[in-house]
Amino acid sequence: MLLLLRAVTGRRLPLPLPCRGCSRPGAARFAAGSSGPGGSGRAAPVLAALLGLGAVLAYGDRRRRTAQAAQAPRYPRYTREEVGRHRSPQERVWVTHGTEVFDVTDFVELHPGGADKILLAAGGALEPFWALYAVHSQPHVLELLREYKVGELSPDEAPPAAAAAGDPFAGDPPRHPGLRVNSQKPFNAEPPAELLAERFLTPNELFFTRNHLPVPAVDPGSYRLRVEGPGGRALSLSLPELRSRFPKHEVTATLQCAGNRRAEMSQVRPVKGLPWDIGAISTARWGGARLRDVLLHAGFEEEREGEWHVCFEGLDADAGGAPYGASIPYGRAVSPAADVLLAYEMNGEELPRDHGFPVRVVVPGVVGARSVKWLRRVAVSPAESPSHWQQNDYKGFSPCVDWDTVDYKTAPAIQELPVQSAITHPRPGAAVPAGELTVKGYAWSGGGRPVVRVDVSLDGGRTWRVARLSGERPPPGRAWAWVLWELQAPVAAGAELEIVCKAVDGSYNVQPDTVAPIWNLRGVLSNAWHRVRVSVRD
Ligand code: MTE
Repeated sequence: MLLLLRAVTGRRLPLPLPCRGCSRPGAARFAAGSSGPGGSGRAAPVLAALLGLGAVLAYGDRRRRTAQAAQAPRYPRYTREEVGRHRSPQERVWVTHGTEVFDVTDFVELHPGGADKILLAAGGALEPFWALYAVHSQPHVLELLREYKVGELSPDEAPPAAAAAGDPFAGDPPRHPGLRVNSQKPFNAEPPAELLAERFLTPNELFFTRNHLPVPAVDPGSYRLRVEGPGGRALSLSLPELRSRFPKHEVTATLQCAGNRRAEMSQVRPVKGLPWDIGAISTARWGGARLRDVLLHAGFEEEREGEWHVCFEGLDADAGGAPYGASIPYGRAVSPAADVLLAYEMNGEELPRDHGFPVRVVVPGVVGARSVKWLRRVAVSPAESPSHWQQNDYKGFSPCVDWDTVDYKTAPAIQELPVQSAITHPRPGAAVPAGELTVKGYAWSGGGRPVVRVDVSLDGGRTWRVARLSGERPPPGRAWAWVLWELQAPVAAGAELEIVCKAVDGSYNVQPDTVAPIWNLRGVLSNAWHRVRVSVRD
């Protein structure tokens, strides 16, 4: 069927070329040979398909060739490092599956899921991606892949380097290779834009990760959560107690880092912080106890006079022993409509280590910084969290404030985030085919405000169309999750497009049109219209 697809699309047939920059004799042999995988015998089934003899013949012939390929003796051996040098069509696109090495350069454009998706695995293993996209777990996919085999991994391929002694990050968990890493230690990474809005719920492995410190190793057996403060009795809850004493509550919520889209702010003027692209945002279905239920169980009242906060501390601590911390106003913590969770589940699984195992706070509609991971303490207090991340970070300032004049005391800590949207497809600089263009993206607003509309322009904002939204229908005031949006529009060959999106939320807040007026020295709250320039080819 995939051969038929090639014939119908009329695209170039896969004919592996010699591997540039690689003098391996085996690579040249397969490129030149007609009996090896990918040789000239491939034209026959395609012609058969063209003549209407159909997929059956093509499939049978492919099986035969695959069987021959399986018997083919002695493929050249490659190390993972050598495979890793083949990450683009210019340097050939290689991938591994098990111990086999494949040159899939000529399949890239034929990949039914799109060239951009298969390129995410270029230079590495297919398995982590296939694990997320189960459609690949079919025999005919493996058979198809074997047509592109060019080698085997060396048997003496070195196992991953052992953790360096004395490295505080040595105990960090393994991560998905598809993540775009902004810093390795501490680990900060975002899902690739190509996959970001492919699913309403972000797979746990691809959920953006924002760590300030090494990931703590927590023994769930001895884990305790302390709850304390004036007006309530102190609690020390084990994991089984948290699970069994309080009803499990589930909430679908998007988390977004205050620094999402910071890279665009840096283009106006440099800012301090990790260069997040559009992916410091993800959505999950969280499960856990309601913070409200735990606080009421400890005897705290539903309402309090005056200023009160609920402070959270994580088990991760800096070199001086100061833990990560943050706080939210008391009213939000006890409101039944705010859905604040002490979460122990993420998308139906126990929390992954990077996302706070065994328990984290999830504060829907609020900047991700307040959703404290690896939670060790909840404290009711008349003051906000004393932590650096509440007092001296995650605050917004005027564009006129610089590092000489900044005074953190003058700005409130960010809580609810402003309305946001971004284009996930096409990617900046892409050459898209003429005809019907599909533009895709996400949109979200803080405070439970729903996104009511996403406007998309293909001409830099001169004319607009309204995108189609998809997502959940939340109760009023509790729109905690993003919407995904899509727009189809005809585009003519030769055109240069500036695609723009802007979202409107339930309070008719709309994104600002440019970055400069919202620029701030920390590069937070970057929510100007998202702009992507592409060209249209024949
Ligand atoms: N909690 C702890 N204990 N340590 C942290 O570094 N980072 C915060 C928050 N909670 C952080 C934390 C920030 S800034 C964000 S944006 C979110 O976690 C990110 O959550 P995630 O890594 O699960 O996406």
